[in-house]
Amino acid sequence: MHRIIRSFTLAMACTLCLAAVALAGHGEHKPTKKGILLVAFGTSIPEAQHALDNIVDAAKKAFPGVEIRWAWTSHIIREKVAKEQGLHVDSESVALAKMLDDGFTDVAVQSLHTIPGAEYHDMVKAAHAYRALGMRTLVGYPLMATSEDLKLTAEAIIATIPQGRKKNEAVVLLGHGTHHPADVYYSAVQHVLAGMDELVLMGTVEGHPTYDDVLATLKAKGVKKVWLMPFMSVAGDHIVNDMAGPEADSWASMLAAEGIKNQSVLKGTAEYDEYVDIWIDHLKGAFSHFR
Ligand code: CO
Repeated sequence: MHRIIRSFTLAMACTLCLAAVALAGHGEHKPTKKGILLVAFGTSIPEAQHALDNIVDAAKKAFPGVEIRWAWTSHIIREKVAKEQGLHVDSESVALAKMLDDGFTDVAVQSLHTIPGAEYHDMVKAAHAYRALGMRTLVGYPLMATSEDLKLTAEAIIATIPQGRKKNEAVVLLGHGTHHPADVYYSAVQHVLAGMDELVLMGTVEGHPTYDDVLATLKAKGVKKVWLMPFMSVAGDHIVNDMAGPEADSWASMLAAEGIKNQSVLKGTAEYDEYVDIWIDHLKGAFSHFR
């Protein structure tokens, strides 16, 4: 009986040996090569592109000697910068294909998005698809994913408010907002902020809280002056035009029309270490699973 079990175990072990050799391809051992892919939405505004460099510098410092590459999820933005600026940035799928081709075995894919919305989930699908081709991929969370992230993000918001802001002046953050269920994250962080400073409000361009929600709160609290700040990684088109632009339908113009003085800060969240630290911590979390 024992002998039967032993020969069965041996047979199994040999089968596994063969499988392992087959996986490595002609018996060659593929050396471990770890890499990082940073994935942002992308931006067509050159000054805003430099904001993303800040994240690369932080990642380089946290992972010395590890190759770091870029990808942008927005097809429209990639086409636009290629046509107008001759700047070619890969999508996450193409960037991962190149990394597979270049022999990477372990790739931490870090989302530089603000919420786990549609762009984030598409990125997760792309990253996981490469596992079937033998490349270990792990995805780091966007800025806000867990309840702890909401607290850290709210603290980053409070810490980056301009020093010149007076106690009776409001600070309105402008996030993107989305039709995706993850739109609730903006309201969730607003809830956390309310417990820290009741005049720091979250608004969004395309989701909730809306401009009307924010305006109603400002009126109810009798606010006379507002600081407008981006809650997007880069101060791109939505910030330059929809938030601070001279057109009548920008947040700055609409607030002014209501008799509320306002001042815009044109600095994306990726330009502040307080936010970058959160993304880098998420990257460390993903990378730590590789041996
Ligand atoms: Co948009």
